[in-house]
Amino acid sequence: MMRATSLFLLWVSCVFGAPVSKDRQKLLLISFDGFRWDYDRDVDTPNLDQMAKDGVKAQYVTPPYLTITSPSHFTILTGRYIENHGVIHNMWFNTTTTEKKPYYQSQFVNEWWDNGSLPIWITAQRQGLKAGSLHFPGTASSYQGQVAMVQEVEPLLYNYKNETAWRENSDKVMSWFRDRDLDFVSLYFGEPDGVGHKYGPDSPERREMVRQVDRTVGYIRHSAEHHGLTDQLNVIITADHGMSTVFRNGLVEEITLSKIPGFSFRDLSFHLLDYGPSGMLLPKPGKLDGVYNTLKGAHPHLHVYKKEEMPEHLHYSKNDRILPIILWADPGYVINGYFPVQFNKGEHGYDNQEMDMKPFFRAVGPAFQKNLEVGPFETVNIYPLMCHILGIQPEVNDGHLSVTKHMLVISDSRGSGGKVGVSCEVEGMVIQVSASGAAEAETMKTTTTCRLMRLAKRIFYLPRNRI
Ligand SMILES: *[C@@H]1O[C@H](CO)[C@@H](O)[C@H](O)[C@H]1NC(C)=O
Ligand SMILES: *[C@@H]1O[C@H](CO)[C@@H](O)[C@H](O)[C@H]1NC(C)=O
Ligand SMILES: *[C@@H]1O[C@H](CO)[C@@H](O)[C@H](O)[C@H]1NC(C)=O
Ligand SMILES: [Zn+2]
Repeated sequence: MMRATSLFLLWVSCVFGAPVSKDRQKLLLISFDGFRWDYDRDVDTPNLDQMAKDGVKAQYVTPPYLTITSPSHFTILTGRYIENHGVIHNMWFNTTTTEKKPYYQSQFVNEWWDNGSLPIWITAQRQGLKAGSLHFPGTASSYQGQVAMVQEVEPLLYNYKNETAWRENSDKVMSWFRDRDLDFVSLYFGEPDGVGHKYGPDSPERREMVRQVDRTVGYIRHSAEHHGLTDQLNVIITADHGMSTVFRNGLVEEITLSKIPGFSFRDLSFHLLDYGPSGMLLPKPGKLDGVYNTLKGAHPHLHVYKKEEMPEHLHYSKNDRILPIILWADPGYVINGYFPVQFNKGEHGYDNQEMDMKPFFRAVGPAFQKNLEVGPFETVNIYPLMCHILGIQPEVNDGHLSVTKHMLVISDSRGSGGKVGVSCEVEGMVIQVSASGAAEAETMKTTTTCRLMRLAKRIFYLPRNRI
């Protein structure tokens, strides 16, 4: 004879998603690094156009500030602004030792990434789902001792623009979905960021790379079909930031801190400079106001802020890792330290209000409406949307499902294997459990807490369109 509490938990499991469910929807999150929102305007993109017809297209999305790779991707994975997830820069650094690690090496510093926010892979796995990641920033690190169940990290010297490798990687994640029954995979491509930097966002090389992205999008959708996943698989395609042309050839007065009268590197104990249009300074004790007053107003296109005075909309202030003085330049400019060492034709890292910094957003699959164009939204909102599609309880985050919910089909029964609804009976439950065996019953017991939390969440959302 079962006690009432177990019956209740079984009921919860039935109504709100059994651990193993054949018709649970899957989700593939793809990022094409640096794909600006308007890159489809001067290139034919038949596959992206078809995807928009079959699904949802946002006019653009707003990334978090700082608009650079690792911080912005971690916002997509956690739904938190950068000041809240703690991955405040592509580079890990220690202000005491003045040590810095570049982008790739920083991927392996667990303490840098695991700073209190859990990426969606870990949350999904804790709630009985299976997650994977291929090359997505953050994949190499562990979080509270856990990693994505299936993970692939690119080698140090990796050719990020090889289209053949892109196709192989696309097929690989499809086989993860089909053969290993993963529920969620994040997949990363390092372009068109590379060509955007090297040749500029208005170059023929960038346009050619957008054609390659478009072919790949077509390939991915074919591959999903070929793997028999079309009815189950949702695909979200977005990016971390856009790209802006850097003014060159003596057209403008460069920003070089060493040339600013009164400024001295001897007043600093640590600095992060020569990294595109942004920089951070740690003045020596007693030197903060001096350094600040010297730099403020020194160049018409250089913005200088004390950390606690940062504009609210940037959400880049309330974190111990952010240094006391923050610098950023207007589009077209980069910030140099001792002398100019940056020669890219395109850059990002600017204010996230700048249109050049906005990425694209597309989504297709059984959870999404068809042929729907929606207005812009912030990328913090992608996380609660993904959790909703997967039927998992999100961690605390800065996004809101209400912002993106209109993209979903009304009858969406996501995350519950199509079993959402209070009409489900306790008897139905018991039958289901005994049929699927002791192992599954055990899984249900061990995930009791998250299921109860999920229940609370569901009840909160339920009345409007579920009943
Ligand atoms: C920085 O390095 C110092 C000296 O090795 C060490 O005590 C400190 O914990 C480090 N801080 C961080 C944030 O890694
Ligand atoms: C985040 O990192 C800082 C050091 O950079 C550390 O002091 C803090 O305890 C970390 N917080 C968590 C929750 O890991
Ligand atoms: C591109 O990738 C394919 C498949 O991984 C590989 O065989 C080929 O050598 C690569 N080509 C280049 C130029 O890196
Ligand atoms: Zn970049």
